[in-house]
Amino acid sequence: MIRENPRSDDPSRSSAPLVSEPPNHAAPGARKDNPMGDPGPRGYFGDFGGQYIPESLVPACQELEASFRTAWSDRSFRETLDGILHNYAGRPTPITECKRLSDELGVRVLLKREDLTHTGSHKINNVLGQALLAKRMKKTRLIAETGAGQHGVAAATAAALFGMDCVVYMGEVDVHRQELNVFRMKLLGAEVRPVTTGSRTLKDAVNEALRDWVANVGQTYYCIGSVVGPHPYPWIVRELQTVIGTEARSACREILNGADPDVVVVCVGGGSNAAGTFAGFAGTTAQLIGVEAHGGAAMTRGIPGVVHGMKSMFLQDEDGQILEASSISAGLDYPGTGPEHAWLGSTGRVRYATADDVEVLDAFSLLARLEGIIPALEPAHALAFVIRAARAGEIPSGASVLVTLSGRGDKDVAQVLEVIGP
Ligand SMILES: Cc1ncc(COP(=O)(O)O)c(C=O)c1O
Repeated sequence: MIRENPRSDDPSRSSAPLVSEPPNHAAPGARKDNPMGDPGPRGYFGDFGGQYIPESLVPACQELEASFRTAWSDRSFRETLDGILHNYAGRPTPITECKRLSDELGVRVLLKREDLTHTGSHKINNVLGQALLAKRMKKTRLIAETGAGQHGVAAATAAALFGMDCVVYMGEVDVHRQELNVFRMKLLGAEVRPVTTGSRTLKDAVNEALRDWVANVGQTYYCIGSVVGPHPYPWIVRELQTVIGTEARSACREILNGADPDVVVVCVGGGSNAAGTFAGFAGTTAQLIGVEAHGGAAMTRGIPGVVHGMKSMFLQDEDGQILEASSISAGLDYPGTGPEHAWLGSTGRVRYATADDVEVLDAFSLLARLEGIIPALEPAHALAFVIRAARAGEIPSGASVLVTLSGRGDKDVAQVLEVIGP
């Protein structure tokens, strides 16, 4: 049963009237060969998604949806974006076959290298698309929330590229954990506003960004960082990240002699790199696995609820209050997940698992030692799952496993040094 218990510190759960519509129990635009389709004007993925927002944001969400629908079907917009992704962000990213790790585990590990993009993570795919849309909508100010800082850095980068003002909201805890990314954002000309409310992490940064958007909706574009928030954001961000899955599927077919990988494993915070990857494989027979942080496992330990403008899965106590997520990786420190994941989990198309901090640190070090690649702590969760499942025989020997390496570990090296020592 859906629980809707407004929290006083969440603007999307304020006393202002909530706008929502009944679920339509299907993704209306879903194609037969791929269940991950267009959620339609109501923005529902099965029972999840929707638009739970104050009245003041309704016109902004409607304008955003209409603008995105027009832009996304406009060939010149798509070509411009493809050009920027290629010439500026470095797409397509390669697939790297991990020979030594594969020998160690007895399964064939392929990495989709989002760590090699400009700014070092998949976040740039989403941000360049949304910033281009913001420009088209004649917005002059870009605001964003960030946890690990990667989305903030990407947003600040896009704002610099397109000549827009940029404000990034970041929980105070994350400001300390990710000092280097805070400095990067400042170098790129963005203002970083530390958020001191609640747990002072990503959830609170989203609240502040939503508040800013409500207050300055005229000239401001809210560039959300994952497949979360009110419709149309979860759909827009998934569409912009589908480039990962599309590229990965065709590259895997070349490497695997026309076959798809047996298993596709991706880390899940809000769920954007996972949604983008899964969109490329949802219509195949590949087994899809999303890996959450043990302390932020909304899909495995959460219950349905309404937060940040969407109906999805959240960690909550019995009174419906949102619990704090806790993880070594700031990017997975979110107590919920995007509504399309809630739906994919409920249909059984995707299995969701968890990895704990100790396994993640082991995976982080193992990939560095065996392959010369230092991963971000977020995708180290996906690797940790693969290592555990391959050693336990849960992934059969010889199976091909695609892992999306969503980001590089530079941002995390100082933190890991503190935890494991020199
Ligand atoms: C490198 C990296 N991977 C994954 C994530 C998690 O985000 P999402 O689940 O939206 O892909 C983050 C978030 O900051 C990140 O920085």
